[in-house]
Amino acid sequence: MADIIDGNSIAAALRTDLAGSVDRLVDADHRPTLATVLMSPDPASETYVSMKQDDCEELGIDSRDVRLDTDAAAATLFETIDDLNRDGDVDGLLVQSPVPDHVDYREVVERIDPMKDVDAFHPENVGRLVAGYPRYKPCTPHGIQQLLAATGVDTAGADAVVVGRSRIVGKPMANLLIQRAPGGNATTTVCHSHTDDLGAKTRQADIVVAAAGVPELVDGSMLKPGAVVVDVGINRVETDDGGSELVGDVAFESAREQAGAITPVPGGVGPMTRAMLLYNTVKAAGLQHDVAVDLPDLAG
Ligand code: GUN
Repeated sequence: MADIIDGNSIAAALRTDLAGSVDRLVDADHRPTLATVLMSPDPASETYVSMKQDDCEELGIDSRDVRLDTDAAAATLFETIDDLNRDGDVDGLLVQSPVPDHVDYREVVERIDPMKDVDAFHPENVGRLVAGYPRYKPCTPHGIQQLLAATGVDTAGADAVVVGRSRIVGKPMANLLIQRAPGGNATTTVCHSHTDDLGAKTRQADIVVAAAGVPELVDGSMLKPGAVVVDVGINRVETDDGGSELVGDVAFESAREQAGAITPVPGGVGPMTRAMLLYNTVKAAGLQHDVAVDLPDLAG
């Protein structure tokens, strides 16, 4: 039976370390500040943004909570971004996705000052990551890297399979795993919807990161015994009694029979993603106010 990787406790330890970095910034007369902009047609987005605001408050990070009507003009959103870019008190800035159809999220991301881009979605930050000198690492893959490090998983020389090639998780995850750096040096395969015989690929892997957005895609029969399994999926599915439940991209019960260690859903990757947004906000504040914040970085 696999060990359960407790993302909540690993994230809590990180937040405690980060609170020390916040104190150093406050001692240097700058309280880190995160601005979130919400213009999403998806009701779940409001919950996500509220959680980000609560996380900031808990750590002593100031936040701005900007909410725009979903039918506001794209120009209004762009002006909001421009104002927050210019505001010297704001260190980190994110626009929660999705945005309404009349707004191009790519234009939104490119409008954000790369120094304030704590999601690490701006092409400059993506490019730096791929080139091997990241400024900010995207929150979910970075959180997974930290989770593996905290669990004592050595990625160097390991065979890793990333299932999913999204801009937010799959692609940057693969980039981090192949970096010549701590938390990298893995032989990494990226699988996706056109992959032939997914199970044949995942069965070779010491580390499987499931991030396809397909409920219970990876089951125990697709795993090498002892593999480390990281489940990024959050899928709400109907149950037989007409209710619903949250499941990951991994069929948990069968996978835990084969795996050496596995993340649960919820309580695995999710809390790490949230912690890494705080991490990037503190890092952004240190960089823009020239304060050495001495961030914990287990994975390099
Ligand atoms: N929507 C879903 N995940 C994310 C994220 O990590 N950042 C932003 N800005 N929007 C999201």
